[in-house]
Amino acid sequence: MPLEKVILAEGDDNLRRTVAEFIRSKRIDVAEAGTIQDVYNYLGKDEFDLVFIDAKLPECKLLDFFGDISQRAEKPLLIPLVNGEPDSFVLDCFKAGAFDYLAKPFSREQIEIALHKAGNFNHIARANAAMVEGVVDDADREILGECDLIMETRTLVKRVAQTQVTVLIQGESGTGKELVARALHAQSPRAQKPFIKINCAALPETLIESEFFGHEKGAFTGAVSKRQGRFELAHEGSILLDEISEISLAMQAKLLRVLQEQEFERVGGSKTVKVDVRVIATTNRNLEESVEKGEFRQDLFFRLNVVPVFVPPLRDRAGDVLFLAEKFRELFVRKHGIAVGSFSEESKKSLVDHDFPGNVRELQNVVERAVILCGADGVISPEQLNLTRNTANKTGGSAEGGTFQKLEEAEKAHIIRALAESGHNRTKAAKLLGVSVRTLRNKVTAYKKDAKTDEDLAKLGLDAD
Ligand SMILES: Nc1ncnc2c1ncn2[C@@H]1O[C@H](COP(=O)(O)OP(=O)(O)OP(=O)(O)O)[C@@H](O)[C@H]1O
Ligand SMILES: [Mg+2]
Repeated sequence: MPLEKVILAEGDDNLRRTVAEFIRSKRIDVAEAGTIQDVYNYLGKDEFDLVFIDAKLPECKLLDFFGDISQRAEKPLLIPLVNGEPDSFVLDCFKAGAFDYLAKPFSREQIEIALHKAGNFNHIARANAAMVEGVVDDADREILGECDLIMETRTLVKRVAQTQVTVLIQGESGTGKELVARALHAQSPRAQKPFIKINCAALPETLIESEFFGHEKGAFTGAVSKRQGRFELAHEGSILLDEISEISLAMQAKLLRVLQEQEFERVGGSKTVKVDVRVIATTNRNLEESVEKGEFRQDLFFRLNVVPVFVPPLRDRAGDVLFLAEKFRELFVRKHGIAVGSFSEESKKSLVDHDFPGNVRELQNVVERAVILCGADGVISPEQLNLTRNTANKTGGSAEGGTFQKLEEAEKAHIIRALAESGHNRTKAAKLLGVSVRTLRNKVTAYKKDAKTDEDLAKLGLDAD
């Protein structure tokens, strides 16, 4: 993505004007500064992507200036314009954080290359920061499964990945929609470019537009600086609009325009931003029904649904439950370093009989818990799978209401089991749980407050005192 705003600090008026004019011809805003005071004035008022700065700018100690910039939250890239300074000075500039340097006299082409490099760097740095937020440890995992339905899904993903079309991935919670979306990107020609996810359900209405499209400085209370939206960050890559059914009708209209024109404006901005982004959306609601009810725009639905991909619920994937259970067992054995050999025949039966309202995610969690709880004999028993509770629910849909154990309670019970399993050795228990000793200690301290009896305390490995 090209840069937007640069400062050109150069004491020589003629040179400054010529260079500024050239940069403007590249459709980049230039603030011209003749002194270091001018530079600071600009930095106080606005945000810049890059500062070109004359190494001999009056009253400026260049290295101090670089040091100051490196302390700031918003750091423009720095390119000194040097003229006969020794190599050691240039080296010091790099040490102090310079992005590049230009030696006078420089050509237009050299300026152009510097601008181009800086633009690319900015884009990658920002996209990286956004991707790191969403990274999960199984980000690159394959879509596993041997049943016909999953084989069809894999074939479809492979074929569609080569195209630019928008894909709508539908399926119940935990079926692997995000996994499919990541696979689509990874197998596409855009694989080396950013994959940016935006969770439409998690964002309050007031923030969603700026999350999508970014905002200019001062666009609203709290917008203290310019910010790129997810669409810009995903430039040349793919964007995953997770739980798309959750966005408001007003946002739907804006999204439609981006899908049609590949352009938008930032919140509080008037400049049109153009992007090249491949859109993937997921939903665990039936979007066609939402369209019928008037909650979702039909035209947007058509735009998104160019290629529909349905990820089937686990209960429809005959044969895959045991296959996946086995794969997950291997995975968690490796992850936790516990030797767990196999599932007993009865536990295989309980897996096959269960209908997994939480789909693959539930299966994965069940197997992880069982691997952790499994005793020294290395065979997983039905008790360790603990699947009886939901098995009756053959109609699908997730279990709700009062009988369903709260996450917090389940976590506490799980921690108590790990403590028992490890003979109340917290280091071992933390390892079993895959958390730090500190996390475990904090949890135990919190439970201690609620412990009512000596027995409660003993379970936590604490004395009654
Ligand atoms: N076929 C599969 N092979 C391997 N792992 C899978 C498969 N399907 C799902 N998983 C794993 O199950 C978990 C849930 O998958 P994912 O997050 O993609 O589901 P989802 O459909 O997006 O769920 P939600 O609707 O709740 O967001 C992930 O850890 C994912 O890696
Ligand atoms: Mg998901």
